[in-house]
Amino acid sequence: MKRIGILTSGGDAPGMNAAIRAVTKTAIHHGLEVFGIRYGFAGLVAGDFVPLTAEDVDHKISQGGTFLYSARFPEFAQEEVQKKGAEQLREHGIDAVIVIGGDGSYHGALALTRLGINSIGLPGTIDNDIPYTDYTIGYDSACRTAMDAIDKIRDTASSHHRVFIVNVMGRECGDIAMRVGVASGADAIVIPERPYDVQEIAETIKQNFADGKDHGLVVLAEGVMSAEDFRKELLKYGDFDARANVLGHMQRGGSPTVEDRVNATKMGNYAVNLLLDGKGGLAVGMDGGKLNTHDILDLFDGKHHGDFTLLDVNKEMTKN
Ligand code: F6P
Repeated sequence: MKRIGILTSGGDAPGMNAAIRAVTKTAIHHGLEVFGIRYGFAGLVAGDFVPLTAEDVDHKISQGGTFLYSARFPEFAQEEVQKKGAEQLREHGIDAVIVIGGDGSYHGALALTRLGINSIGLPGTIDNDIPYTDYTIGYDSACRTAMDAIDKIRDTASSHHRVFIVNVMGRECGDIAMRVGVASGADAIVIPERPYDVQEIAETIKQNFADGKDHGLVVLAEGVMSAEDFRKELLKYGDFDARANVLGHMQRGGSPTVEDRVNATKMGNYAVNLLLDGKGGLAVGMDGGKLNTHDILDLFDGKHHGDFTLLDVNKEMTKN
């Protein structure tokens, strides 16, 4: 193996640049050449490759987004498109690829491995929804951004004795909502994976107001329903002043946290070492802070399990 490629795919996440940097620096350390593949799998098929030097990535560890750009490219599910991608890599002398992205990216990494280009997947998504890993690159930064935003929302909520329903990202996964909900002192956390009772939530908020609390806060995962729909549901059981707020894509931006920088660096470094050992078709993850690998194939049948104990802890933060 002389030359490796790296690409980012799907929704961007803070820490992707730190992972690209780690891959580039580790590869160069071991005498390999590195090519950045721009615009994810779309750029792979188009042959949009740029050589990367250690200096190119010197300032990237603190930058949000992905400087290789990203794209969603469902066409890569087709075999003939995958073959085109593999051909491009061979033409450029690239023997192996590291893919940073969410669920969809793993299908691409496995397809390339089956076509003879060893590929390793790194979990890069704010959603934290990937099986066999309790951490994804960008998750911590997104939680931090959402928490900071909610701290500001709480100021205005308190000034007006209002209830805010804050919708956070995560697709069908409630991990961002749970962590941010606990960190923000939410009256209720509502996620797709667990049942909830709107009337009970309204009663909790009413009780809290009666006890002297000056605001209400519901952290709602986007996979449940819109913040506005939840607001309407809630108002069926209480006559408080309520506002809906959607944090949206701001959660994907900004400088990565320490945790995201360090984990992205560890994962990028590990991925190159796996390739050097001749491995491919693997997904890198973390379990309790320790790096792990699983066959990408296993991920397709696997399910991510969030830390649902956070819901129980949060419930006991209220009197009733
Ligand atoms: O997967 C990351 C994510 O930000 C999800 O949380 C969200 O549902 C989705 O991507 C938004 O996608 P898009 O950027 O295509 O609007």
